[in-house]
Amino acid sequence: MDCKRYVSLHWVISLFLLIAVSIPLKSRAEEGMWIPTLLEKYNMQDLQKLGFKLSAKDIYDVNHSSLKDAVVLFGGGCTGEIVSSKGLVLTNHHCGYASIQALSSVENNLLKDGFWAYSQKEELAVPSLKVRFLERMEDVSQIVLKGVDALKDQSKQKELIEERCDALIKQYSKDEFTEVSVKPILYGNQYFMYIYKIYKDVRLVGAPPSSIGKFGGDTDNWVWPRHTGDFSMFRIYATKEGAPANYSADNVPLQSKNHLKIKLGELNEGDPTMVMGYPGKTQLYLPSPAISMYQNVSFPTRISIRDLKLSTWKESMNKDPKVDIQYASKYARTANGWKKWQGAILGLSRFHAIERKQEQEKQFQAWVNEEPNRIAKYGHILSDFDSLYNEFVPYHKRQVFYEEIVERGADIFELCSILNTFIHDKDKGLHVEKKDIIKKLDKFYKDYDPEVDANVLGKLLVLYKQNIDPKYYGESMDKVSRYIGKGKFASRLYNKSFLVDSAATKSFIRKYKRKDRDKLTSDPIFHLKYEMDQTYVFTSFFKYQYIKEKISATQKLYVKALQEMNGDQPFMADANLTMRVSYGQIKGYNPKDGVYYSPFTTLKGVYQKSQQSIVDYQAPKKLIALYKEKNYGVYANKNGNLPVAFCASNHTTGGNSGSPVLNVKGELIGVNFDRCWDGTMSDLMFDPRFCRNIILDVRYVLFVIDKYAGATNLIEEMDIVE
Ligand code: ARG
Ligand code: GLU
Repeated sequence: MDCKRYVSLHWVISLFLLIAVSIPLKSRAEEGMWIPTLLEKYNMQDLQKLGFKLSAKDIYDVNHSSLKDAVVLFGGGCTGEIVSSKGLVLTNHHCGYASIQALSSVENNLLKDGFWAYSQKEELAVPSLKVRFLERMEDVSQIVLKGVDALKDQSKQKELIEERCDALIKQYSKDEFTEVSVKPILYGNQYFMYIYKIYKDVRLVGAPPSSIGKFGGDTDNWVWPRHTGDFSMFRIYATKEGAPANYSADNVPLQSKNHLKIKLGELNEGDPTMVMGYPGKTQLYLPSPAISMYQNVSFPTRISIRDLKLSTWKESMNKDPKVDIQYASKYARTANGWKKWQGAILGLSRFHAIERKQEQEKQFQAWVNEEPNRIAKYGHILSDFDSLYNEFVPYHKRQVFYEEIVERGADIFELCSILNTFIHDKDKGLHVEKKDIIKKLDKFYKDYDPEVDANVLGKLLVLYKQNIDPKYYGESMDKVSRYIGKGKFASRLYNKSFLVDSAATKSFIRKYKRKDRDKLTSDPIFHLKYEMDQTYVFTSFFKYQYIKEKISATQKLYVKALQEMNGDQPFMADANLTMRVSYGQIKGYNPKDGVYYSPFTTLKGVYQKSQQSIVDYQAPKKLIALYKEKNYGVYANKNGNLPVAFCASNHTTGGNSGSPVLNVKGELIGVNFDRCWDGTMSDLMFDPRFCRNIILDVRYVLFVIDKYAGATNLIEEMDIVE
């Protein structure tokens, strides 16, 4: 019997509606970090379809306050949001980490114990921390690219572009608190200008102890399900007139043009989410040979070098609490990329990224082959990529070794770079403030342990010797190379260097005269580093750069062709540390056969994970007590659980940390802080099935501030809607 015949029309309609709402949105909606000024043209329909109640002007407007005025570029590469009318900034704990560390010592360890200002007087100024507000952005392609294509010589093109950008920057920069930048998008097919206001008096207001703010530590980093209370708070100060200024005790909290409302209340799977912030870098239009290079050469090489560095640091950090603080921030920084690349390799191979790219390339080639003029313009692109990458890979691999071992391998090599710049500037007769150099040295030595570093240097040099042909070494390394790996050769080398001694180095700087130059250049470590640099640059780097530029030119043409192929459809631009909007939904996922992750975590998970014997999982006793009391107040879900984190399908990347996650009305529901392991390939390829961002539920933030820290002064100044 055919049951279909008995199905009523009513039932058919409901079924149709059910299917219509549950069909996943096209991946286009979720993929991409969109440019605020192009939302109207490209995205508003998608956004409305998803349920957003905002207009493009609510998000970005230069004449009236809009959401953009509540989002800042925090420090050098994070995002923060303004959450009160008194310049209160919310960002991640890991974004505030270096600042909190800088204010910490063994006796007063703010990282470990947390910090709360119960009044504005108690807030701590953070030297050299700044936040930037975007005043406006503008497409300046017409100005920058005018007549460029007519120039056949690429270096002439580059010169002209640079000239035009410099002229714009000069025209719009008015004082030390205005920053103007002109940046390419779509690989130089378009240019945008950005004007920022920079605030330089930023103070620490609150940070939970690391046992909350970094709960799960590097073990859980990049992993879902997640239970990290990754937030910290700062305040922007300005002159009484609201103008940006350097630190002054007379400054007052900034009354910014806009601040976000904070929304309490239940979240559900499927709820729309919008992330606004400063994603740093994605490369979504790379061809298959480039993906293969990342997957098979760069990521594995960087991982293996960092393996060595991290394990060496960790050993000493575990033994000595002083080293533990000194190396905390460096360790987290180094481990972060190291782990992300492992996830990316996993994702790229599991989801056959290279084959998928090849498939797209076939479609592209078929499109090109449809018309003779396309063949003439674009027919060579894919084969050019093949031969260029073929030539490029060995240079790229050496560059990776250089970056990871020479440029930022041992700490002392970084010190050498500071000193090298100093004598170089002096040689050129430039004015150098010695006290600025001394400041840099103080910062360096504060987090430096010669014994640990000699150990790292020794091990890294062994790796360099094993992997790099002697012709790229330099003479000094050649000599040293005989001893590499033998006994404590690195410590012996170290002990001959005056750089190990902070007083000696500082006095060298203070008394520096031209004739003292030799003292530095003949220092065994400085000399070694200097020669490694020089030899590498002359034997490999120039050629590396040369091929890279050819690749960029081909990439630019490729993206232009792809755009043409795409017709009127929205075409996303890769991230470039400028303000972007991405949208998606709260969504669980299916990382592999038989496994499903729900998109929510709660305090119960913190309790279950907590173990006093494992550093990463030592939840504070007070938090556990609060869990047992279940005294969550307005922050709890209806079922009585306290939410901690959720994951969603927004396309995000490094730099989006601290970004506000907004609901359909533009109210704050969470703070972005990470991505899921299975989807960290999304910098190269976004797959809506597996790519998820990880978000701290704003209710957990408020709970920690209110019930854990008792900083009700902060709760009161925020605009909380129920
Ligand atoms: N993976 C996040 C990001 O890329 C968080 C890093 C900080 N947390 C940590 N456990 N190291 O920045
Ligand atoms: N934690 C990252 C950051 O610092 C965000 C995670 C990501 O890379 O998406 O920006």
